[in-house]
Amino acid sequence: SDPDLVERARAARAALGDRAFVLGHHYQRDEVIAFADVTGDSFKLAREAAARPDAEFVIFCGVHFMAESADILTSDAQQVVLPDLAAGCSMADMAAIDQVEDAWDVLVDAGVADDTVPVTYMNSTAAIKAFTGRHGGTVCTSSNAHVALRWAFDKVGGVGGTGKVLFMPDQHLGRNTAVLQLGLSLDDCVVFDPRKPGGGLTTQQLKDARMILWRGHCSVHGRFSARNVEDIRAAAPGVTVLVHPECKHEVVTAADMVGSTEYIIKALDAAEPGSTWAIGTELNLVRRLAAAHPDKKVHYLDSTVCFCSTMNRIDLPHLVWAMESLVTGRVPNRIVVDADDAYWARVALDQMLALPG
Ligand code: 13P
Ligand code: SF4
Repeated sequence: SDPDLVERARAARAALGDRAFVLGHHYQRDEVIAFADVTGDSFKLAREAAARPDAEFVIFCGVHFMAESADILTSDAQQVVLPDLAAGCSMADMAAIDQVEDAWDVLVDAGVADDTVPVTYMNSTAAIKAFTGRHGGTVCTSSNAHVALRWAFDKVGGVGGTGKVLFMPDQHLGRNTAVLQLGLSLDDCVVFDPRKPGGGLTTQQLKDARMILWRGHCSVHGRFSARNVEDIRAAAPGVTVLVHPECKHEVVTAADMVGSTEYIIKALDAAEPGSTWAIGTELNLVRRLAAAHPDKKVHYLDSTVCFCSTMNRIDLPHLVWAMESLVTGRVPNRIVVDADDAYWARVALDQMLALPG
């Protein structure tokens, strides 16, 4: 990075002192991670944001839905700043609140809504989290999706019963968790396509389903294929393939291990020197892991899949601009969730934070 910019970042960070707390998601650039007070997956960062009541400013180096969640979990006096407002998430954008309200009406008309608990992935707008809170559901992240799903099914008769979960917006995390961790079958899962009338499903399909999966996915993880896993096994015998649960079901079933970004980091920390790994997640993190573990061989699962373009919007110039603005008394790019959505989204987020484990 530009040494002048690094110097300006250091000076601004020092001037802010304890008034600011900088959170960095694992997919952020190295130049940004260098200034993070804490790094984490989305679950850890939500907890960290809630645990810093004395910080006047929470500078969120991540994407918009994470900053919204931080605003919801911090006090009204604290201000959450997203250094670039264009740092969205294509998956979160795949579920708009009016589409979700319409989908619920479809479930009501099919006579299954009373038997359905909504579970939304953290990667969703505050409005979707609020919808989930209003309808008695919970938020989950990739590290606690199995616990959240069990909790949700328990509200409607258990995993072995006939109740349903409406899982939004990542169909892959929902399917992978339901099939591989809860023991449901692929036939128990249907995909609700918000662009089609009735979600593209018949009333009978909705009645028979146990997991109603929103048709959404991550544009980065969705690009890995089972072929990538085959290829790396051929090229690197003995390799352990470790992927994020946002990958397609065919990828997760072909892999050896699956888990959140925090899980992936811990797995590499615990790995034997000399072992060989292929990692299927965002490239900034995989590159950092390779650099941090020179005694292990760390491959990228597919060399053509690259960065999360929206995570990468947060770069050192944006971070410096945000911090220098705060030093001069101006709060840039403040993220504020409206009070009613914040109340109900918090109900769903608190439910997640209260899940066992
Ligand atoms: P986690 O950090 O929870 O593993 O999620 C990954 C992700 O895609 C965040 O956008
Ligand atoms: Fe969204 Fe995927 Fe980027 Fe995560 S990696 S912020 S899910 S687009």
